[in-house]
Amino acid sequence: MYRIVELPFTEWSPAIEAAESRRLAGELELGKVLFLPKLGFGLQASETPFLDPRWLSGTHKSVSYEPVRAAATGGVRGAQGSPGELARLAAMIARFQTGALSLIHALFPGYVAHLRKAPTSFRPGNVESHKLSWRKDDTLLHVDSFPSRPNRGERILRVFTNVHPGTVDRVWKVGDLFEQTAAEFLPRVRRVVPGTATVLKTLGITKSRRSRYDHAMLRIHDAMKQDSGYQARASHLTFGFPPSSTWICFSDQTAHAALSGQFMMEQTLHLPIPALYFPERSPLKVLERLAGRALA
Ligand code: SIN
Ligand code: FE
Repeated sequence: MYRIVELPFTEWSPAIEAAESRRLAGELELGKVLFLPKLGFGLQASETPFLDPRWLSGTHKSVSYEPVRAAATGGVRGAQGSPGELARLAAMIARFQTGALSLIHALFPGYVAHLRKAPTSFRPGNVESHKLSWRKDDTLLHVDSFPSRPNRGERILRVFTNVHPGTVDRVWKVGDLFEQTAAEFLPRVRRVVPGTATVLKTLGITKSRRSRYDHAMLRIHDAMKQDSGYQARASHLTFGFPPSSTWICFSDQTAHAALSGQFMMEQTLHLPIPALYFPERSPLKVLERLAGRALA
């Protein structure tokens, strides 16, 4: 259980001493999962009809709340419904965003000035009903790294809450800490062919230039998902996050897989490495130490 650190908080804005904050940041920044079994997100009676995958439009796996970019559809993307329904769905997700942000602000005041908010998502679908190609299959252990979104080492911090109305856990597998995963998979990463990053950027395949770090993380992500021996390893932890519980991790660092479950809220935040309490624990610094060279 060293991978999961349980916290007793019952509020989205808990009071916490500076020393405890630093200690928890130290655990989180090693790639552990902070688990708050007593922190749920309460739906209002008028919102419970949203606990249904029928609100997803097309092939979307989640409804995302992006008030600026999706203003024309009430602030949500990936959802279908009348304008009134979409507005109520947006309001529900916005309330979760407020909670998730206040939680991170309360626990880690050191991050506050540097956080960049990414979309908030509501995932009403059943994990097991979305069968995707292996690269997109998040039922396989992986660290988050996205082909079109290079981040050059900027961190991906995520807050999750299981909003299942019954008794169904969100079951995750959690792998080894990043130091160990990186030591195992980095040797399998071949050096990038010179000029690749420029070509990908020019063709619009990547939204910004892919760094050597981005290349390494994508290859590690793929190698983890493709290694059936690694996936089946008995030492990984299978853990069920129950309804009305919340958990936090750096998903670019914590090896994770979603095995089963339905109805979850999620907030993504980005954080530059210097804003961490322990920058040397970040995946970029770990990989650079292992590689013996800069990966910027
Ligand atoms: C993931 O981030 O890989 C999946 C998380 C989840 O759906 O529980
Ligand atoms: Fe993931």
